[in-house]
Amino acid sequence: MYKLIDGKEISAAVKERVKNEVAILNSKGISVGLAVIIVGEDPASKIYVANKKKACEQLGIRSMEYALDADTTEEELLELINTLNEEKSVNGILCQLPLPKHLDEKIIINAISPEKDVDAFHPHNVGRIMIGDYDFVPCTPAGIMEMLKYEGIEVEGKTCVVIGRSNIVGKPMGMLLLHKNGTVTICHSRTKNLLEICREADILVAAVGKAEFVTADMVKEGAVVIDVGMNRIDGRLCGDVDFENVKEKASAITPVPGGVGPMTIAMLMQNTLTAAKRQNGVCDE
Ligand code: GUN
Repeated sequence: MYKLIDGKEISAAVKERVKNEVAILNSKGISVGLAVIIVGEDPASKIYVANKKKACEQLGIRSMEYALDADTTEEELLELINTLNEEKSVNGILCQLPLPKHLDEKIIINAISPEKDVDAFHPHNVGRIMIGDYDFVPCTPAGIMEMLKYEGIEVEGKTCVVIGRSNIVGKPMGMLLLHKNGTVTICHSRTKNLLEICREADILVAAVGKAEFVTADMVKEGAVVIDVGMNRIDGRLCGDVDFENVKEKASAITPVPGGVGPMTIAMLMQNTLTAAKRQNGVCDE
């Protein structure tokens, strides 16, 4: 019998914690603010941004949305980011990706002050994750670590396999599992013996972007299976894992929807709170 790892329940617990901490800061005269920049009309991005804004409202975090035209120039966008970097009431800055093709994501991400980079995409923060001395972690891997902790799933000594090597999920995921003393393998499109490697995994994280890519024969009996995917088959939302068949072998598994997805926004709220605390010299006890 498998345990369903409920992202709605766990994200609600994280948000409750953040909400309480925001209220304590407010009582000390410290507000928490997040600026969200969106360029163009990408429908998925618009939904993500609306959800981020809604979460801010629920938690007492001020959200400022900057919806810019698709033909915004790099110079204009950099000017806005510089203004937000200087603005004391803005603790976190997030520029929704992907950006329109004429804008260089690397240049834009590098322009965000590392202290306000709540996505943890800036090379400064990426480097800090590498050495295990970080304030911000990209929201999806952070959310997965929170799920493992909540479920009491020990990482130390476990064989951890991450499928996918993106800068946003796969690579930082591998580092976080390594920091918890997991033995980590990151697989990708050129990996030769994917099936054999996945079959060894005690903890298997699928961040491939291909519907139902992970099949039951790739999963060890009793493995913990984390599905980062968000795909559609004939309009139906599904993950990177063939849930119906894999669940019978797993000891614990995340569903799609209702798994990793809700955690991402909760961890963004957590990072925004952390930014506000750091900028106001509030230490964690
Ligand atoms: N686009 C898809 N996911 C993300 C994310 O986590 N942050 C930003 N800024 N853009 C995204």
